Amino acid sequence: MKIEAATGDLSKQAVDAAVVNIFSGAKRPGGATGAVDRAIGGVITDLIGRGEVRGEKGEITVVHTVGKAYQGFEPARVIVAGLGKQSEFDLDAVRSVSANVARLLRTIGARTAATVVHGAGVGGIEPETAAEALAEGALLGHYLFDKYKSKKDRDDRGLETLRIVELDRSKSSAFQRGIERAETLSSAASLARDLVNEPANVMTPTKLAEAAQTAARGIAGLTCEILDRGYAEKQGMRAYLGVAQGSVEPPRIIVMRYRGDARRPKNNIWIVGKGITFDSGGLSLKPSDGMTQMKGDMAGGAAVISAITAIATLKPKMNVTALVLATENMPSGSAQRVGDVVRAMSGKYIEIANTDAEGRLTLADALTYAKQEGAQRIVDVATLTGAAVVALGHGNTAAFSNNDELVERVIAAGKQRGEPIWRLPLDSIAKKQNESKIADIKNTGGRAAGSITGAHFIGEFAGDTPWVHLDIAGTFLADSTTGWTPEGATGVMVRTLTQLALDLGARR
Ligand code: BES
Ligand code: MN
Ligand code: ZN
Repeated sequence: MKIEAATGDLSKQAVDAAVVNIFSGAKRPGGATGAVDRAIGGVITDLIGRGEVRGEKGEITVVHTVGKAYQGFEPARVIVAGLGKQSEFDLDAVRSVSANVARLLRTIGARTAATVVHGAGVGGIEPETAAEALAEGALLGHYLFDKYKSKKDRDDRGLETLRIVELDRSKSSAFQRGIERAETLSSAASLARDLVNEPANVMTPTKLAEAAQTAARGIAGLTCEILDRGYAEKQGMRAYLGVAQGSVEPPRIIVMRYRGDARRPKNNIWIVGKGITFDSGGLSLKPSDGMTQMKGDMAGGAAVISAITAIATLKPKMNVTALVLATENMPSGSAQRVGDVVRAMSGKYIEIANTDAEGRLTLADALTYAKQEGAQRIVDVATLTGAAVVALGHGNTAAFSNNDELVERVIAAGKQRGEPIWRLPLDSIAKKQNESKIADIKNTGGRAAGSITGAHFIGEFAGDTPWVHLDIAGTFLADSTTGWTPEGATGVMVRTLTQLALDLGARR
């Protein structure tokens, strides 16, 4: 979909649909909605009077203006989108409304549409931010993963052009900036969704690495290095390799670098993603039901690979490295056993209490590697624990940290992008659960506080480096379509990580 900013009058756009809006409780439409209402003989006012248009959030009314029924009115339809209560209006509402409209336009086979920015100026929302949220919502909400559907039941090619129209010429460059940022962020989130939605027989570690290389190729200043098992062996990444040894798919290490502040190498952040392309559990085999979502166990890896493409495009003044230690977790004659002890890259000995707690093993070596390479801050993103779903459900990503300032910045970035994050504690009582009788640490801490013990395990390898762990087990997949999140992979944390880098890079 192409989104463009244009100066002019909505009524004069020769498009399949003109999109206007209304707050709940409004008796008469104002602004651009009022102008359209007058152009079509007061139909919207009439529908409000009849109670058909109520302005409620999520409400969409289609008014057909076919065959030029109204003199000088060009759009073939008018779509009235409810914005909900004006007092509750925010950027998330803009994104949701815009997403719902974009999907409706696809359903009715519209290819071109024109809209006004919803609620610019309401509640202090700037024109640039409003246009950005509108474009973000449309692009993210319009996303569809249908490449394996060979037959389509209707014309669902989707929107070709969405034109954001504004009478005031002076706003158009602000709109343009907002649209461009939205396009960068949304295409990065869509890339992450694609990588996660792909089945595991396609998205192997090798394929994930190739996808990262392909994504980096088009972006100036972004490099992508792929390393193999031999390299991991030389580095002593035995925790990671223990997970990889059960699979016939070769492991791949993905390192993507963006240098936005080459003169200060220490002005950096490492974003590290869990990259298990399929998690069967290994010898601690999952029940079949528990495996259905496990092609997505690389969602953290997909998030960091995708985020750095957006970061390198938007160019904050700081250095960012994305790191993924990708592998499958499979049972086989060569698989790691329960009770094995492995020596992690850091030198710590780990007792394998459960081969299904594999993510933390790969992240242990990833964090050691990041620190060896000079990481000053680390944010890891991982579908780490089913316990995160039990604790927070599907609304919030769980955060853990050894650094109040960094985690506050991550939470703020998430808030700005509509990706809620909730911090959970790293208490010393839970930490004890990871103690091993025969090694330095074991990789599970029992049923209680499962997300916290998982985070503690990773924290052992973060040491004193400022670090945030984001457990996305509850948020990487959506089981139904809501707002700007279509069913399937959500691409969660791509826009948050990008925002974080922009925020950190803007300071000074
Ligand atoms: N990838 C899973 C966690 C997961 C579960 C993510 C559901 C998304 C949805 C992880 O590797 C895992 O298996 N964790 C175990 C840890 C346990 C063995 C300590 C879990 O959560 O049961
Ligand atoms: Mn597992
Ligand atoms: Zn896993």
